[in-house]
Amino acid sequence: QESKKIVLSEDPSLPKPVKSKIVKLEILRGQRVRVSGWVHRRRDQQEITFIVLRDGTGYLQAVLTGNANKTYDAVTLQLEASVELTGTLKAVPEGQRAPGGHELVVDYWRVLGAAPGAEEAFTNRLNEQSDPSILADLRHLVLRGETASSVLRLRAALLSAFRQSYADNDLLEVTPPCLVQTQVEGGATLFKFDYYGQPAFLTQSSQLYLETCLPSLGDVFCVQESFRAENSHTRRHLSEYTHLEAELAFITFDDLMTHIEAIICETVDKLLTNPATAALIKTLNPHFKAPSRPFMRMSYASAIAWLNEHKIQRPAEDADGNAITKKDEETGKDELVMVDHEIGDDIAEAAERQMTDIIAAPIFLYGFPAELKAFYMQKMPRKEGEQGPVYTESCDLLMPGVGEIVGGSMRIADMEELLAAYKREGIDPAPYYWFTDQRKYGTCQHGGYGLGVERFLAWLANRFTVRECSLYPRWPGRATP
Ligand code: 4AD
Repeated sequence: QESKKIVLSEDPSLPKPVKSKIVKLEILRGQRVRVSGWVHRRRDQQEITFIVLRDGTGYLQAVLTGNANKTYDAVTLQLEASVELTGTLKAVPEGQRAPGGHELVVDYWRVLGAAPGAEEAFTNRLNEQSDPSILADLRHLVLRGETASSVLRLRAALLSAFRQSYADNDLLEVTPPCLVQTQVEGGATLFKFDYYGQPAFLTQSSQLYLETCLPSLGDVFCVQESFRAENSHTRRHLSEYTHLEAELAFITFDDLMTHIEAIICETVDKLLTNPATAALIKTLNPHFKAPSRPFMRMSYASAIAWLNEHKIQRPAEDADGNAITKKDEETGKDELVMVDHEIGDDIAEAAERQMTDIIAAPIFLYGFPAELKAFYMQKMPRKEGEQGPVYTESCDLLMPGVGEIVGGSMRIADMEELLAAYKREGIDPAPYYWFTDQRKYGTCQHGGYGLGVERFLAWLANRFTVRECSLYPRWPGRATP
């Protein structure tokens, strides 16, 4: 009850405080400072309350003693309240640890926005054991945690390092549209909507637009959201993801793979040479090692042979593509019938994952059969007398723990060949007139790729799912918060 009577006021004889973010505090040691943030942790010790304050730029330990610790606000202070703290910043004594190596000895403070206690207390709404769907509903609160915010901080550093690597390699950033009237990666995963009375889609990939930029701006890249109406509930599929795509002119297929490898390695090196991001990676993924160059290159045909040698099979399918099952004699349960891989098979996520985990290094899988891939891909030249499927100049980059993080290819440069490809896929060429025009006015050998930012981050930060690598992830049935 005594606490209700104590009112704290700021002593006007004290030096005027310097307002600062936590990250900028080091040069202000010994001075009086004012810092605002959220109560991340609190610990009471007899007459003293220790607070860890969080402002998004870092964490700061603060100490409330004397009257500052006796007010009604001090006694009722809850986690996640927002507060303004004013006091003297002191280096912590030798042998003691605190974030930044200093602590704030508070002489004046106030609550800016209280947070509830009891049932509504932050830690009651959110505890680590919460059901995944509850945690998804509470993503806005999960983001306040150390792990989620570290992943997002690393994501920001990653995007900026990629941009720097592109600048170093003379690629220019462009911003293609999200609302489009053409498909890139097949009709099955298109989100359709009504656009002023016309059919339109959310973009699956900005590739076609990047191709049109080559004669205008030279090599280009973009960081744009892509949308896939995929009914996949796997740990690497999102309905909306951040797609880093690039397109390069006058290159060969070999140049394309060398470029992808260079961009990835230069970006990882930038992250590791920056002490702040290196520390983030170390915390999230203590065993992370930068991949060594050159990356292994394995043709599709040799991957099929590799899978069979390693007894990695795929589920058998009937003519309609449904998995075939049989009753297990011992358990009586329906089990998948597994068969060897054959040339022409899609290498499914499970097999791809097993292969990357065994090889435990980045792998370029290249030269997929044309029937498995998109309409725009350049075919590989056939050797004389060669039998079997027509292969494409396409490559996927697989990373341990995640599998495919990049998909790329050389593009059909010849107009007649492109027109034939539309026809084969049953695509109406009319809405693609602008894409076809690229082949009419000064065509060139060119290629490019798309990298899934959330998948790359899942690899770098060793996250179980891409859902942890997106600010507000979307997957089938989930568009909230
Ligand atoms: O292999 P994809 O479908 O290739 C393209 O879209 C090309 N048009 C890109 C290009 O050449 N410019 O997708 C490229 C990458 C994949 O390797 C994967 O990392 C990511 O995009 N990706 C997804 N990430 C999360 N959720 C999904 N549903 C994804 N689908 C693709």
